[in-house]
Amino acid sequence: MQILIINGPNLNLLGKREPETYGRESFEEVLERLRATYPSIQLDYFQSNIEGEIINHIQQADGIYDGIILNAAGYTHTSVAIGDAIAAVGVPVIEVHISNVYAREPFRHISHISAQCAGTISGFGAGSYLLALEALKRKSENLFFPSK
Ligand code: DQA
Repeated sequence: MQILIINGPNLNLLGKREPETYGRESFEEVLERLRATYPSIQLDYFQSNIEGEIINHIQQADGIYDGIILNAAGYTHTSVAIGDAIAAVGVPVIEVHISNVYAREPFRHISHISAQCAGTISGFGAGSYLLALEALKRKSENLFFPSK
């Protein structure tokens, strides 16, 4: 399995940025733990503060990756274009947020990407990435409970 994690704007500052909301770990540390937990999964990582670069990576992942874990950060609430990019590709995308966006300001309750994603995980700290990875793994192995 090959999974691409894409982090959006300001997530390069994880560990230093508003640690009471986003935790004290850098994403490099989180990534190391994810790789140690899932040694059989190839986990690639891309971070950008630039909307178009995120769109380019979503497009380029199509046909190469088995899934994308996307924390579009602030672009979640503003970017029709990232939502369109997700809709345009066949690769399943899971939307993640470190914080519980629904317990925060009303503008964070709006997502332009949720409807295009396979699902959303929000509010479990760095664990949101782990839960998304587990979901993609189970999805690919058909390990979810049958719907009846
Ligand atoms: C975030 C939540 C967003 O509202 C915010 O703009 C971020 C991070 C999160 O991971 O909790 O930058 O996506």
